[in-house]
Amino acid sequence: MNKPTINILDPATANLIAAGEVVDRPAAVVKELVENSLDAGAAHISVEIIRGGLERIRVSDDGQGMNRWDAQLCLLRHATSKVSSPADLNNIRTMGFRGEALPSIAAVSKLEILTKAADADLATIVRAEGGKLLEVTDAGGPSGTTVTVTELFFNTPARKKFLKSVSVEAGHIHDVLAGIAMTFPGISFRLVNNSRLVLWTPGDGNLINVLTAIYGQEIAAKMLPVTFSADGITISGYTGRPDLYRSSRQWETLAVNSRLITSRTISSAIERAYHSLLPQGTYPVTVINIEFSAVNGESPVDVNVHPQKKEIKFANEKAVFSAVYRAIDLALQNQAIRPSEAPSGRLSEFVKKENEKKENKPAMNNLVDAPADVLLDRPVDKSHGEAMIYLPPSSMPTAWESASTYGHVPPPAPEKETGLIPLGQIDDCYIVAKSAREQGLFVIDQHAAHERIIYQRLYQNSGRIPAQQLLIPPVLRFSGREAEVLTENADILEELGYKIEQVGPTAVKLLELPADIPSGTAENMVGEIAALLIKSGGNSGENAPGMLRHAILQTTAC
Ligand SMILES: Nc1ncnc2c1ncn2[C@@H]1O[C@H](COP(=O)(O)OP(=O)(O)OP(=O)(O)O)[C@@H](O)[C@H]1O
Ligand SMILES: [Mg+2]
Repeated sequence: MNKPTINILDPATANLIAAGEVVDRPAAVVKELVENSLDAGAAHISVEIIRGGLERIRVSDDGQGMNRWDAQLCLLRHATSKVSSPADLNNIRTMGFRGEALPSIAAVSKLEILTKAADADLATIVRAEGGKLLEVTDAGGPSGTTVTVTELFFNTPARKKFLKSVSVEAGHIHDVLAGIAMTFPGISFRLVNNSRLVLWTPGDGNLINVLTAIYGQEIAAKMLPVTFSADGITISGYTGRPDLYRSSRQWETLAVNSRLITSRTISSAIERAYHSLLPQGTYPVTVINIEFSAVNGESPVDVNVHPQKKEIKFANEKAVFSAVYRAIDLALQNQAIRPSEAPSGRLSEFVKKENEKKENKPAMNNLVDAPADVLLDRPVDKSHGEAMIYLPPSSMPTAWESASTYGHVPPPAPEKETGLIPLGQIDDCYIVAKSAREQGLFVIDQHAAHERIIYQRLYQNSGRIPAQQLLIPPVLRFSGREAEVLTENADILEELGYKIEQVGPTAVKLLELPADIPSGTAENMVGEIAALLIKSGGNSGENAPGMLRHAILQTTAC
């Protein structure tokens, strides 16, 4: 008989494997520990991190604490006070339910728990290292729990290798805590990063105060209240006015029964409700919590479908979509900002943008001096159509019709040095010109042409793009993920004229900008580049630096 090839793993190895599912980076540890504090009924939760959580994470709460016995039990796998029978899984109302977080964290770190139940005389300290219980001692201390995690992943070098820089990890932690704080406005949160207080919420139950603390006054002032209730679904929160759009979904904070999740269904319902109010490719700023009432003791959502509990399943996706759509639609309607009711939304955005652009409008001569082949080259951004339409003499009557409907008449290839002679301008948008050599007319879309000229100019700089130093470098706020990709690609960005410096987990200082770009547009521009980098997966994998350069130049030019 052949020797058996299957081993039963020893508990230490099995624990390390299981831990990998729950804890993949410092932010996951913070999420689990803070969720435990929430389940313990804390009113104040404090998170302190050193070196992006890699050196130390400490989460303290004033919740119910644990007695000496529970303080040791909690480190065992499947030890939980939140679930005791299969029926409990049908209607989970606590953040935790698996009894996996603490043993997973303990398996990959050096852990200390200081905890005291309100009715106990003494607190308990439990120490463990790499999953092994080292000591249990009595101590003095206030009611509540403080968990300290040091040297995360000290015994799993492979995992450690995949972590990003300290500031990137700190950014993720900031995002996690900000999301939870927006979901629990009645609880006061603080985040201290390397001894500096970087986030604090008052815990007064007022979500708008949390939004002000996290996003700042300016954004909070543009948030519209969302309140909706029908068919067992209650939705509350805030959603941004349409002029508060962002270039990524990072600003959509979604919670179901106060649990932060990501959901395609919910995101698309929100975005559908904004419909044409937002410019294409942009997303709203939204913070909503959706509460489902249990039907016959069973919840219509299943939270037990994802190792990190980030996704859930709905019994009735359609009902969820419809409720979220109606909730957001109502919030927008209440503010009378539907296009039918007031001149806002896409059209007004467009007009505003056009006006802004007009201030930086290229001189007509500047355009017509450009070599015609620049204008006739491939368009920078297809959404703007061709930069120039050529109307050959024989086709002029029909060509005029097609020009007015953005039809495209294939242009001839003019000689490189062909200059154009302007004849007039239509609606401040189009230039009608004739060529010194060709017969017929050229209708030039001024904006598309301007974009193409900038693109061409930038592209021709095969090395570094000339940059302008900003006298007062603005500090731009991003999500942790956006700040991460920007910092990771700082070298490429600097080559392309954007010099940035990360000054906080979610803050980036913009020191230089390409010479052609008006500084007022910097924030949007860098935000768009961040979104682009996230979409394309950064500079890793198949994204050659050349491709990124091309994509960023396009964004800059538009
Ligand atoms: N901050 C805390 N205050 C009071 N009790 C706590 C705290 N943290 C953990 N516990 C206790 O320890 C138990 C184990 O925690 P752990 O996070 O490992 O599992 P869980 O929260 O029950 O489930 P999950 O793995 O889904 O998080 C909890 O059920 C709770 O009883
Ligand atoms: Mg837990």
